[in-house]
Amino acid sequence: MTRSRLALRADLLDFTADPGWSAPDAAPGVRWRPDHWLLVEDGKILGAEPAGVFTPGPEWQTEDHRGRLLLPGFIDTHVHSPQLDVIASFGTELLDWLNTYTFPAELRHADPVVAGQGAETFLDALLSHGTTTAVVFPTVHRTSADALLSGAHRRGMRLIAGKVLMDRHAPDGLRDDVVGAERDSRELIRQWHGTGRLSYAMTVRFAPTSTPEQLAMAGRLMREVPGLYMQTHVAENRAEVAWVAELFPEARSYLDVYHRAGLLNERAVLAHGIWLDDADRQLLADTGAQIAHSPSSNLFLGSGLCAWPELEAAGARVTLASDVGGGTSLSMLRTLADAYKVQAMRGVKLTAWKALHGATLGAAQALGLDHEIGSLDAGRTADLALWDWAHGPVAQHRDGRARKVHERVFAWMTLGDERNLAATWVAGHAIFRRPGAEP
Ligand code: GUN
Ligand code: ZN
Repeated sequence: MTRSRLALRADLLDFTADPGWSAPDAAPGVRWRPDHWLLVEDGKILGAEPAGVFTPGPEWQTEDHRGRLLLPGFIDTHVHSPQLDVIASFGTELLDWLNTYTFPAELRHADPVVAGQGAETFLDALLSHGTTTAVVFPTVHRTSADALLSGAHRRGMRLIAGKVLMDRHAPDGLRDDVVGAERDSRELIRQWHGTGRLSYAMTVRFAPTSTPEQLAMAGRLMREVPGLYMQTHVAENRAEVAWVAELFPEARSYLDVYHRAGLLNERAVLAHGIWLDDADRQLLADTGAQIAHSPSSNLFLGSGLCAWPELEAAGARVTLASDVGGGTSLSMLRTLADAYKVQAMRGVKLTAWKALHGATLGAAQALGLDHEIGSLDAGRTADLALWDWAHGPVAQHRDGRARKVHERVFAWMTLGDERNLAATWVAGHAIFRRPGAEP
């Protein structure tokens, strides 16, 4: 059988360890390989060779992108597929935003045609922003989860998703019940969990929209089915936190509601985690659950500033997420630029190394997927994104003045977005190319 062999020439950037909160020049784990060939065989990374020394033979299909930047595809650990319908909606904080914009929009996805078209648009949009893996909320409707998972499967993407569970405090047409939700979840798990590159996530919208019985059902399935993920929201907004305290007076904290239901483990992904205390941070560390930090959403909805370094100091894991449509861009570059600004407000300086690690290797490790994605190591699946260093005259001007690698990468991260993306590969297949960005 002939092997497919692809060699891509570019500046390679990935991580071998967490750069932490060290200064740019002192950060460990940064693997910077300017002008190298990345070798991909049958969809897997074989290795990398310096372009000055190595020339691929005729058995290689080559693409010469010298002067561009090649990274592992980004991992967005929290995003809502139906919310492209409400991204950039004016004037509300979380609970009003849900009632005014989000719930009405999600209702439309009961229709399989709307759900199908929505999933296709969303998945193509992820890829055209350089994101190859995501942990995704569709809607409460089974058809919407089905459309999302089948669309990701057809594209060969590494995706984690599940039908949203919500059986109270939501409008008619957007609620399930414990029996129906368990039936739908089981059928979706049977069809999609472990199919191709997909994993299923028990998807509790947030504590206020699930009865204790529904939370218990989700916990039961988590114990029963190996490898299931769990995704939800926690401690995003102060009014939300107060509401959870009223609804669950027996719980020590918002996070404890999920813990009592058996929902916290190393495959649990909880968005936001802004209004947590020391005991919560310890609970995250003890259970291995991760916070999907969503800086763009937290700024846009006025939710608060996430204490990322404090979470990590307590032993908790933190990954990066767009949280569209609370967040205002699917671009992980914009997300990271916002993460820098959130930490700047707290007097902390986030390097480009730390930020990019959190959206690649760090997220892969936190999801238990670093054997497959998140770096350019040999043996990893070739999920890749190729970037122009600068788009437009201001970014080009700034790029031209950068002297050190971190200075250049930080300017790219801060000024860049999807317009910088030249191409995306999923398992070695070019799945997105920007017109005019040929080698
Ligand atoms: N909490 C419950 N649902 C949502 C949602 O859709 N987006 C955000 N940002 N927070 C939530
Ligand atoms: Zn969210």
